Amino acid sequence: MGSGPKVHVQTLRGAKSVMAVMLLLLLSWDSCSSSSSSSVAASVTYDHRALIVNGKRRILISGSIHYPRSTPGMWPDLIQKAKDGGLDVIQTYVFWNGHEPSPGKYYFEDRYDLVRFIKLVQQAGLYVHLRIGPYVCAEWNFGGFPVWLKFVPGIVFRTDNEPFKAAMQRFTEKIVNMMKAENLFESQGGPIILSQVENEFGPVEWEIGAPGKAYSKWAADMAVGLGTGVPWVMCKQEDAPDPVIDTCNGYYCENFKPNRDYKPKMWTEAWTGWYTEFGGAIPHRPVEDLAYSVARFIQNGGSFVNYYMYHGGTNFGRTSGGPFIATSYDYDAPIDEFGLPREKKWRHLKDLHEAIKLCESALVSSNATVLSLGNKQEAHVFTAESGACAAFLANYDPNYSVKVTFRGRQYDLPPWSVSILPDCKTAVFNTARIGAQSSLMKMTPLGKTFSWQSYNEETPSADDSDTTEMEGLLEQINITRDASDYLWYMTDIVIEPDEAFLKNGQYPVLTVWSAGHALHVFINSQLSGTVYGGLENPKLTFNDNLKLNAGINKLSLLSIAVGLPNVGLHFETWNAGVLGPVTLKGLNSGTWNLTNWKWSYKVCTLCACSFSMIT
Ligand SMILES: *[C@@H]1O[C@H](CO)[C@@H](O)[C@H](O)[C@H]1NC(C)=O
Ligand SMILES: *[C@@H]1O[C@H](CO)[C@@H](O)[C@H](O)[C@H]1NC(C)=O
Ligand SMILES: *[C@@H]1O[C@H](CO)[C@@H](O)[C@H](O)[C@H]1NC(C)=O
Ligand SMILES: *[C@@H]1O[C@H](CO)[C@@H](O)[C@H](O)[C@H]1NC(C)=O
Repeated sequence: MGSGPKVHVQTLRGAKSVMAVMLLLLLSWDSCSSSSSSSVAASVTYDHRALIVNGKRRILISGSIHYPRSTPGMWPDLIQKAKDGGLDVIQTYVFWNGHEPSPGKYYFEDRYDLVRFIKLVQQAGLYVHLRIGPYVCAEWNFGGFPVWLKFVPGIVFRTDNEPFKAAMQRFTEKIVNMMKAENLFESQGGPIILSQVENEFGPVEWEIGAPGKAYSKWAADMAVGLGTGVPWVMCKQEDAPDPVIDTCNGYYCENFKPNRDYKPKMWTEAWTGWYTEFGGAIPHRPVEDLAYSVARFIQNGGSFVNYYMYHGGTNFGRTSGGPFIATSYDYDAPIDEFGLPREKKWRHLKDLHEAIKLCESALVSSNATVLSLGNKQEAHVFTAESGACAAFLANYDPNYSVKVTFRGRQYDLPPWSVSILPDCKTAVFNTARIGAQSSLMKMTPLGKTFSWQSYNEETPSADDSDTTEMEGLLEQINITRDASDYLWYMTDIVIEPDEAFLKNGQYPVLTVWSAGHALHVFINSQLSGTVYGGLENPKLTFNDNLKLNAGINKLSLLSIAVGLPNVGLHFETWNAGVLGPVTLKGLNSGTWNLTNWKWSYKVCTLCACSFSMIT
């Protein structure tokens, strides 16, 4: 049998080298300062005002750093930079498909060494917000679900479905028990002060109704039943069942109100930027606007803010979701993809955090009194019985600076800004005024210890070895089980001598309908064309003339999945690949329907990996 085309497909994702630039800081943390606090029964609770950690209400500043999106070598430095930036808490999701690549086979090594990551946060003296999910969305492949879950008989994702709930509970318990075994919950003297079950389920519940509500109640009860000694949140979940705290995600959350007046006002995702998709723009959020939104959240009674992302990092290997989410997950975050502070953003937020911290005792011990200072200007004043007083002076006008008078003093407020007065007198910070600091980034050569890792995704040729022959077109992920991005669909088109395949100089038109995400079409080893879908609509159609010859023609379709969708309803129904129909139009004998023909299939399961050292 003849051999098909041999191609080396340009890798859309993966092939990202790990550049441990941050080694330049050769950070050393003091492992003795580990906050292995006393074994006195510690605890985390909450009231209407704030989380209460060891009996104290806290205003907490948090930032997302996802452990598999950087290398273990980077972690201590990222955590230290977060601490230096004024953070109290590191927030991370837990990535189920990284931890359980096949049912019951767990992986917690290297970039997936969750315990090590949490212990590093603890050693730095910070807290952890552990978002177990285990659905995470996160622009992560399949939203963090292992692909094998799709093939569990009878499964329906994220609803009142027994096989799904059983799998979700098993994994959630696995993680909670692992944390308990290492004494990592605050109630055990560890750093985890908060957890999360599910993720942004509100919109799904709204769509699916009663079974969604039942599932949400089940998830909350299941989580609370695990007895971690620390509160759970559900984000974007307006009816989060007690005692789970509903929290806000968004660019602005100042007007968010939790569903009970005995729950604190918390912001689980303050978006610092946005993710990129292949071919898309690089998003940017000005730090002035970010600081303004955070200051407004705090002045309106908020007590927990998490930056999503504080360090976005990299979607290594085949972990990006989508389809078409980019390899970089930089997110325009305060710490850039390579671990370096994004100077202006990082520093301005650090200054904001210092100002907020100066207000903490007044903030936690009183409710705000709101005074009008003008048409679009307000003062939010916090006065504690102790005498502590803090004020936030806000100018909501997007265009005009305003002079306001507060307690007999004059203050200049730039447009769209908040000034913070930790003693109700001195404005120590304004969200629109960037401090004068400018420190240049220092780059230092690394010497000879720098190791590179590179991945080479070889697609097998479309020859006839190791193929499976089936009648009809098969769903791609069912065959590849996502062990590879690539699947060949191959068939022979036989043109009999009496068949005219060229009419008025026109070859017949091949039409291929695919569920996505990209497709290369070859005829007799010649590339005939490439089509691809997009993030919003992964589906694609190839429609072009096909250069046929008399006799046997080898049609080879290389279908490519570039990240499984991470958001939406009914994950069990999502498909990829050439589902058809496939037709050929313009032959003498009329339209040929190739859909139910015999097709051969070939998966790339062996992806060569090469390692090299640079000296
Ligand atoms: C602050 O407001 C809450 C209701 O949101 C109320 O329960 C609490 O007693 C108030 N605290 C003070 C000090 O007035
Ligand atoms: C602010 O200025 C923009 C144009 O720069 C204008 O479109 C907008 O209406 C103004 N808004 C207010 C509240 O004056
Ligand atoms: C997966 O493929 C097999 C045949 O290989 C088929 O029997 C099964 O129905 C498919 N399952 C799904 C979910 O597509
Ligand atoms: C081709 O065959 C498939 C499978 O039988 C069918 O669903 C499809 O409608 C047919 N398409 C055309 C254009 O005849």
